[in-house]
Amino acid sequence: MSTKNLIIAFGGVSPEHEVSVLSAIQAISSMENSQYNLVPLYISKSGKWFTGNQLLELETYKDLSLLEENALQCAFVKDDIGRTHLKQQNSSGLFSKPKSYPVYAVVCAFHGSGGENGAFQGICDFFNVPYTGSDVLASSLGMDKVKAKQVCVANDIPVTDSLDFYESNWETDQETIIKEAEILGYPLIVKPCSLGSSIGVAKATSKDELINAVEMAFRYDAHLLIEEAVHPLMEINCSVLGTAQECRASVCEKPLGTTETLSFKDKYQSGEGADKGMASADRVIPADISSELTEEIRELAIRTFKTFGASGVARLDFLVNAETEQVYFNEINTIPGSFSFYLWDKSDISFKQLIDELIEIAIQNHQQKNGRVQSYETNLLNEKAVKGIKGLKGIKN
Ligand SMILES: Nc1ncnc2c1ncn2[C@@H]1O[C@H](COP(=O)(O)OP(=O)(O)O)[C@@H](O)[C@H]1O
Ligand SMILES: [Mg+2]
Repeated sequence: MSTKNLIIAFGGVSPEHEVSVLSAIQAISSMENSQYNLVPLYISKSGKWFTGNQLLELETYKDLSLLEENALQCAFVKDDIGRTHLKQQNSSGLFSKPKSYPVYAVVCAFHGSGGENGAFQGICDFFNVPYTGSDVLASSLGMDKVKAKQVCVANDIPVTDSLDFYESNWETDQETIIKEAEILGYPLIVKPCSLGSSIGVAKATSKDELINAVEMAFRYDAHLLIEEAVHPLMEINCSVLGTAQECRASVCEKPLGTTETLSFKDKYQSGEGADKGMASADRVIPADISSELTEEIRELAIRTFKTFGASGVARLDFLVNAETEQVYFNEINTIPGSFSFYLWDKSDISFKQLIDELIEIAIQNHQQKNGRVQSYETNLLNEKAVKGIKGLKGIKN
């Protein structure tokens, strides 16, 4: 068996938990005959870390409480020589020892808060292990719709006009917020600042609807965004693969919703193919738009990926006014559903090749980080250096 342990990390405390399980299982299936020993790291909805071979099978996730009873808890630990292992915290049998896997690289397959927002990436940085996708900064920027917009505005990337506010502002200044929103003009789109999969997103065409939409969105997030609606709307997505220094764009896709605003149901629960994840949603690939518009969007996707300092594979979603063809950046998904493989296989890159490239980039990013000076041999806490710092007991000045 290969000693290169590839940790597939997924699940997590996120409304997109199940979607993440699907993306991970798809990646696992594509890597079955690879050079790696695949080790699952499944984070449950309650935030516990589990591993064990049964977690490589989709079947296991049909009963999540049974899963928690049978799977083995695990954690990252450092060994004597400073290498990071994924270590089981208990063993599978009476006579076996808990297994421990030195980490070669981590494939991050989370979607939404917790795993896509930089928090898990921070844990990987802390344990100094290579991981696929964007770093902490790009991941968290991508997850925060308000900050993402500010970055775009500062870099001439077109976005819709909007305003943002917190729950405490709404409690004290509701009328002012409504007035400002009405200057943008109905219809308006209300959305939580840092969720995904259309959860809490609603369209409002009147003051009453606006108030309802805001109150509904506050169930998910304390920070909201109200933006002008693009109408008539055409959504076009494009995936970008590589690093902020060197990357390329996939073909474009046009997702089709049953209503104009794509809902969670449209995206993941429509039709028989729900277990196929994002690949099953209705879409036109390549998008049936002009070659000029295609190129404009692909170039904008690359420029935005670079601006965010993203890495690995991302999917950039654009809102297009179907009449004027004005393009607005909507969001960057730094871990796109199904890793956007269905956009890359149109460019003759198989799912396995895509994951292989993500791992290569992860190793390259890790080597670059580790090639820099990160700490100094001098101990700044030795007696001589500490002398002169006031307020420290036991050191004579
Ligand atoms: N400004 C807008 N105008 C029109 N429709 C929008 C606008 N913003 C979002 N939508 C619709 O709502 C959906 C979800 O919004 P989005 O910002 O992508 O949130 P999420 O991160 O939850 O996917 C989009 O796919 C689109 O259909
Ligand atoms: Mg979206």
